[in-house]
Amino acid sequence: MRLILLGPPGAGKGTQAQRLVERYGIVQLSTGDMLRAAVAAGTPVGRKAKDIMDRGELVPDDVVVAIVSDRVDQQDAKAGFILDGFPRTVPQAEALDRMLAERRMPLDLVLALEVPEKTLVERLSARGRPDDDCETILERFRQFNSLTQPVLDYYGRRGILRRIDGDAPPDEVFNRVRRAVDEAMASNSP
Ligand code: AP5
Repeated sequence: MRLILLGPPGAGKGTQAQRLVERYGIVQLSTGDMLRAAVAAGTPVGRKAKDIMDRGELVPDDVVVAIVSDRVDQQDAKAGFILDGFPRTVPQAEALDRMLAERRMPLDLVLALEVPEKTLVERLSARGRPDDDCETILERFRQFNSLTQPVLDYYGRRGILRRIDGDAPPDEVFNRVRRAVDEAMASNSP
């Protein structure tokens, strides 16, 4: 199973991805986590990404695409993966299509978590990651609305997008996620 989790900042992508890992035994590929690890390690990618992430903007497409491309080639991604926070722009989605077509690894499902903005602000303010201050949260929402919403339309046209109401406790949201994944697995199996 290869699936994408999309949604605005604080929608619960990381939270639901963890539950999917436990349930289906596939790996979580979070570009946010990979970039934060690169920043913490002070790698060239991390040095390039740090200020951009601190401002709540998106890291350049070529940087993120290269990271994901390396990651999907690792052994633990062969059985399937959950992309968390990628793709976030239409050029990233197009690059992912090319990457997966070359490897004959078709996508099974794209899940879009939908949560009202007021709830997102409450969740992120309570968490307190370095990019969770008020001004940066608003910039991350702006980036999502202008650059990532078109990605939802992109997958909507492909017929593999499922919208999930993410405005409920995590376990309840996971029941909805699990149903969508099980349905996709049943309809994709020969
Ligand atoms: P990234 O790490 O992907 O951050 P994000 O999209 O802003 O998402 P968050 O991690 O804030 O939220 P989430 O949806 O995962 O929710 P979570 O489960 O954590 O990206 C960070 C930065 O990296 C970007 O701004 C950009 O600069 C860069 N970047 C990353 N990917 C990129 C890409 N592809 N291209 C370019 N740049 C990229 O939950 C949030 C909080 O809510 C937690 O405290 C959680 O406990 C709580 N919570 C979750 N679900 C619920 C629930 N159902 N009820 C109550 N609380 C909940």
